[in-house]
Amino acid sequence: MVGLKSHDSRDQHDVVLERKYWDRLADSFSEQVIELAQEDLHGVIDEELCLLAERGSSVVDLGCGPGALIPFLTRRFQSVCAVDFSKPLLEKAEAKHGSASVQFIHADLTCPVRPERQFDVTVCSSVLILKSPLKRRRLLESVLRFTRPGGRMLITVPALESSIHVYRTLIDLREELGDGNGLSRGQARRLFAREVPSILDGNVSIQGVPTHHWMREELLGTLKHFHLKVERERRVEFSWSREIDAAPKHLGAPYPWDWLVVAKKPRSKK
Ligand SMILES: C[S@@+](CC[C@H](N)C(=O)[O-])C[C@H]1O[C@@H](n2cnc3c(N)ncnc32)[C@H](O)[C@@H]1O
Repeated sequence: MVGLKSHDSRDQHDVVLERKYWDRLADSFSEQVIELAQEDLHGVIDEELCLLAERGSSVVDLGCGPGALIPFLTRRFQSVCAVDFSKPLLEKAEAKHGSASVQFIHADLTCPVRPERQFDVTVCSSVLILKSPLKRRRLLESVLRFTRPGGRMLITVPALESSIHVYRTLIDLREELGDGNGLSRGQARRLFAREVPSILDGNVSIQGVPTHHWMREELLGTLKHFHLKVERERRVEFSWSREIDAAPKHLGAPYPWDWLVVAKKPRSKK
């Protein structure tokens, strides 16, 4: 039966902000969380990393989780640093991807962290998802502090537009394939209202946890506010099976997606 992937509604309202939530996911991370680098249907992230890497350049992966991106980074950059506030996740990353060229740092990026050095490239993939606008702003400030003047940031965030696209596709499937497939308009409305209590806040409930999803314009506007120059914006598409149970094989593009932007930090403070 075709349907929305069931989201376990454990009562975990604000815990997305808490280390403990991520700590608990350490043993089942790849089953429970979309690790974008692994799901990227068209290799967009690797393509962008390739464009960003220069001979001898350094990169930091902020909110590295169990380190799915690290092999992509060590292939292209001379020195790699990986940061996370969850010790169990950082330990997993180190056990799997540790080497002389990779440094691991335990830090909370919503605090005013003062990095010992700055990097040519900063990657922040699926981390700016905190419900609180203030914490998202602090996290972005950390991304900036880790980036050298003139350096680049590669940021990915879940797309709010993609969530709506998934619901519309489920309605289309019901209309195309009949009962037992997709969702009726009424069902879609009710489920959407439960998962996205306020479209204006952009927080989508994932496994009961409010997770910020960004509109393209919101993302571009926020980066502009920080005086960052967006050089490229792209979609990172992933498979329908990540969103829809028993997704029909004929479902193709446009796939669900996250936004990816590459932005440049100004050389001098404006
Ligand atoms: C959705 S996972 C993304 C993991 C990885 N970047 C990826 O793309 O697969 C979010 C990660 O951000 C980390 N994180 C969340 N808030 C953080 C904070 N305030 N400081 C440091 N890391 C944080 C979590 O521990 C988790 O590993």
